[in-house]
Amino acid sequence: MFSTPFLDLPALAGAAGTVRLPGSKSISNRVLLLAALASGTTTVHDLLDSDDTRVMLDALAALGCAIERDGDRLRITGLGGQLGTASASLFLGNAGTAMRPLTAALALLGGEFELRGVPRMHERPIGDLVDALTQLGCRIDYLGNPGYPPLRIHPVAPEALQLDAPIRVRGDVSSQFLTALLLALPLCAGASAPAGRDIVIEVVGELISKPYIEITLNLLARFGIEVVREGWQRFTIPAGSRYRSPGDIHVEADASSASYFIALGAIAEGNGIRIEGVGADSIQGDIRFVEAARRMGAEVTSGANWLAVSRGSWPLKAIDIDANHIPDAAMTLAVMALYADAPSTLRNIASWRVKETDRIDAMAAELRKLGATVEDGPDFLRVHPLAATGWRPASIRTYDDHRVAMCFSLAAFNPAAVPVRILEPHCVAKTFPDYFETLFSVAEAREVPVICIDGPTASGKGTLTVEVARRLGYHYLDSGSLYRVTGLVMRRNGLEPEPADEARIAELARTLPLRFSEGKVLLAGEDVSDTIRSEAAGMDASRVSALPAVRSALLALQRSFRRLPGLVADGRDMGTVIFPDAPLKVYLTASAAHRAERRHKQLISKGIPANIDSLRADLEARDLRDSSRPVAPLKPAPDARLLDNSHQTIEQSVVQVLDWWQQAQPFESA
Ligand code: DC
Repeated sequence: MFSTPFLDLPALAGAAGTVRLPGSKSISNRVLLLAALASGTTTVHDLLDSDDTRVMLDALAALGCAIERDGDRLRITGLGGQLGTASASLFLGNAGTAMRPLTAALALLGGEFELRGVPRMHERPIGDLVDALTQLGCRIDYLGNPGYPPLRIHPVAPEALQLDAPIRVRGDVSSQFLTALLLALPLCAGASAPAGRDIVIEVVGELISKPYIEITLNLLARFGIEVVREGWQRFTIPAGSRYRSPGDIHVEADASSASYFIALGAIAEGNGIRIEGVGADSIQGDIRFVEAARRMGAEVTSGANWLAVSRGSWPLKAIDIDANHIPDAAMTLAVMALYADAPSTLRNIASWRVKETDRIDAMAAELRKLGATVEDGPDFLRVHPLAATGWRPASIRTYDDHRVAMCFSLAAFNPAAVPVRILEPHCVAKTFPDYFETLFSVAEAREVPVICIDGPTASGKGTLTVEVARRLGYHYLDSGSLYRVTGLVMRRNGLEPEPADEARIAELARTLPLRFSEGKVLLAGEDVSDTIRSEAAGMDASRVSALPAVRSALLALQRSFRRLPGLVADGRDMGTVIFPDAPLKVYLTASAAHRAERRHKQLISKGIPANIDSLRADLEARDLRDSSRPVAPLKPAPDARLLDNSHQTIEQSVVQVLDWWQQAQPFESA
């Protein structure tokens, strides 16, 4: 996951390959609650691991459910209608799929509960649900503004509940209120009379987001509750209904998450992409995004648990759509509309205004930043296509809304080839923590940015490079380690860093079984990180690196590190030979005295005895060899920025390099 303050997406062009998507948030949180309300143990497969599911799991654990993780399975032992605690204070983040159903379930289970969330959750309405529960006899107080969380729930005796008359709930603000009642009311269906009683729910007003209700009904059926539905107005939970664990249950991949990759397939050049984990037979309403994408020109084929998407019409065809049935996925259409042949209109989307943020305002504001003309109203959005000359490099605000972050990544395919900056990219953790990594695994950039940091030994390149890479969310290449590992392999094969052995060393270098993982250097699985750091290994590295055949053997390997979203590479010839087209080259140096002192401190802190004078003599000898060798000698590239950090802290150097990088970007300072 990217935890950087921003993530810059370079201009993207093509896409190819296969993605596997995480489990659906809507299914995951419903399954968790149903498993918690049922008796017995449910094993949940492919559960989404995200902020919203974590919030639900924490809440269920606090209520007394036993939860056990076993690889990618999760076992929950349900409460069987009996809470493990009489009171609890639950923090539910910004998860509507936890707040609404838990409110209903806890109001019926009996106990003293406080339910809170992040400030935005306290602006998301819940009054219609509380009204419905109050009608029934539940006791719920607002702790802040009436109609909104936080809430306090008080216990009521089951016999005090008024279950004879239909329970009326409004359906035109959020379908989650009806979902909450449907999930929780079976708790009462077996109550009092021996055979229990039918419980009837009536929807007042036009029900929005019906497909989410279908998911709810489908999952209730998997847990043994067969709700009888009359149109979208009346729902009956039959007398005697009881939650029965299905034993095992699989969570489908998230169909709304699929929308970004369906759009990607429709927009990107190439043979298209394959999406695994969800197919056209999905129980999620958002799968109907596929129809909308087809109308816009996408070529989509599908099977049991997969979709394959490629570009069909180009530019895309404008769409005018009532998007009430695909509220979340329709945000993706708003960005696709930029690539269409005429203005597109999304209608009947008033529910966007009460989601993670006011999504109509947010989409309109950010689309305009890209240069688009946008019209918006209480329940619609009209987006005009953007000509190649109209695109602006924009820093996209994401409003702590995962879907804003994800759908705006598609703007990186713009024909003007301007990059897109996504602010606070970590908000995708709500439903798709690895969204950007997944995108980068299939997207192809026109040019992946590289920052080169070259300089002599002990100049602090390594530390600076790692830190700059971390702040930008970029990959990192320590090219010196490749020469160090080559030196090690050379020794292990009984060779000498001499021209006589050059061809054999080069052959070894070309086929190094090398892997970098979590800051470690692994050679055929063996952790050699410390071995290659010794002074002797450094000297060997310096000598093998003077052999031209070795240098060319390592060329392809070094260039293969240039991957999305970007690379920071340190070495001696990053800017001169390996990445001569890099947009930023830094030549880092410090006086020999300073460098010897730093190396000395480093060695002493590791408990390795060292002598400053001999260290200084060693590094001057290495400087001389590295800079006087005929191939790729150590020297600044003509277009490199010089940075002498003799009198700088690491932080000052980091800030300097990031500042130069920012100056090279078209974005205004964040
Ligand atoms: O940066 P370092 O100390 O780990 O590098 C070890 C040796 O490898 C260095 O003395 C010279 C060589 N090297 C090189 O020639 N080119 C690079 N890009 C990186 C390192």
